[in-house]
Amino acid sequence: MRLFVAVPVPEGIREGVAGLGREIAGEGIVPVAAGNMHVTLKFLGEIDERKLGDIEQRLRGIGFAPFGCTVRGVGVFPDENYIRVVWAGIESGGKLESLAEEVIGALSGYGEDKRFSAHLTMARVKRKVDLKAFLETHRNDGFGAFQVSSFLLVQSELMPGGPKYTVVARFESRVQV
Ligand code: 2AM
Repeated sequence: MRLFVAVPVPEGIREGVAGLGREIAGEGIVPVAAGNMHVTLKFLGEIDERKLGDIEQRLRGIGFAPFGCTVRGVGVFPDENYIRVVWAGIESGGKLESLAEEVIGALSGYGEDKRFSAHLTMARVKRKVDLKAFLETHRNDGFGAFQVSSFLLVQSELMPGGPKYTVVARFESRVQV
């Protein structure tokens, strides 16, 4: 199974980000559909199904208090002269980073070690494109705020028409004791 851990985002915010992504759809730029948007905390990649119980148990051990996030700003990875991803930024006063750190720590040994960078992928870019004017216009756009009260273990199946994501397990926030 191809798995990842992500935070769900309310539909209204996803629709806003997806709408802006559609504005740049075209040669080499594939916007992410609103239904497929989430904040990835950790990508595990291909995992033996027999490991699922261990992964869920590790994730169940994570306790966090609910926190707020603001979705604001548009930027790119890795840089404006070589764009692979167009994203909307997420600000949480470090809370999302802490949760990602917990998840990455709990799942050490699974997937590749990659630093977490809080973002919502708006579009993926397949060739050289110039988005300077677009970025100038939308750099500080606001998309709304939401509360994080759970995170998800998600299965990704790669289909010809795009990925199909299925929630495998949900982990609710709880105040640490
Ligand atoms: P992204 O949207 O933040 O780019 C499911 O594929 C999710 O896992 C995607 O949303 C993607 O995050 C994330 N991901 C991280 N590393 C990945 C990789 N090497 N291959 C595919 N997806 C990856």
